[in-house]
Amino acid sequence: MICPVRWSDGAVIILDQRELPGRVTYLTCRTVEQVARAIESLAVRGAPLIGITGAYGMALGIRRSRPSTLERDFTAAFDRIRRTRPTAVNLFWALDKMDRAYRTLVRNRRTVDQVKAGLAAEALGIHRDDARTCRMIGKNGACLIPRRARILTHCNTGSLATGGIGTALGVIRTAHRQGKVSMVYADETRPLLQGSRLTAWELLQHHIPATLICDSMAAGLMAGEMVGCVIVGADRIAANGDFANKVGTYGLAVLSRHHGIPFYVAAPVSTFDLSTSNGRGIPIEQRRGEEVTAIGRIATAPATIQAHNPSFDVTPARYVTAFITERGVITPPFRAGFKAKFDAR
Ligand code: MRU
Repeated sequence: MICPVRWSDGAVIILDQRELPGRVTYLTCRTVEQVARAIESLAVRGAPLIGITGAYGMALGIRRSRPSTLERDFTAAFDRIRRTRPTAVNLFWALDKMDRAYRTLVRNRRTVDQVKAGLAAEALGIHRDDARTCRMIGKNGACLIPRRARILTHCNTGSLATGGIGTALGVIRTAHRQGKVSMVYADETRPLLQGSRLTAWELLQHHIPATLICDSMAAGLMAGEMVGCVIVGADRIAANGDFANKVGTYGLAVLSRHHGIPFYVAAPVSTFDLSTSNGRGIPIEQRRGEEVTAIGRIATAPATIQAHNPSFDVTPARYVTAFITERGVITPPFRAGFKAKFDAR
């Protein structure tokens, strides 16, 4: 099992995903600033994993606190980490969970050492729970996958993006173990190539039959009846079912509808943001144009060309066949489906 982030002796150890698949190297983060930069630079990425890493960053933020600096250190860590990436709601969900744990410990007059231990335990708990959540998503989603399935996926949603086997990739891994997967088509996922660098790497590690395609090839594959279903992850799902995921997802959803192909979204309950009523309210991260004009250090465009680089796009709910969560599968109408599944949250 790949372990992309872990808490070790008061440091956050992060597998540097920018170096994959070429090199397996780890960053040792001993400050909140180092954790924040690892998230911003995509050394660590994927909605659930950003949340887990943010939680560890909070535990790190008070590691050296004295009674007189505890509140100030906690608030500084909270403010810094919440400014890293705006779209994946899992980060804010995890930070709010850490905040609630901290407030409870302080209200109960715990010593500073007890607060430090309590926050580390809370972060470890968030990490452990995500592993269980992924297994449930995998199990629930695999029921939707037919025999000899040919599945197309986008970006990376596996062990490198979560605390477990993954969301969309977790469904694929579970269905593969059940002997149902004949081919996975992985979009390379421009501009940062999470599909070719990370998903292709994970699929090979698990011996899942896989074929890498450029993003622009999906339409042709679908027209040629080579894709039976599409499964993607999500970074934030609004109350009406509109959702943000890696840029390019919206196009795939439209193409799937055009070709009559089921389009599934696999995500934990922590990715649902029911306080945002529809996709227009989802903040979309804008990244540097250089990510589009170069691959790594190699320029692929004239240096002075302007480049547009939204990291995510929003897919309208009407293109989604079903959401796959740890609590089960939700089909339209989504508002009512979410209410039934999440009222117990
Ligand atoms: O920019 P990234 O690599 O963090 O984007 C990741 C995605 O868009 C994933 O599809 C999403 O976070 C779901 S991960 C289980």
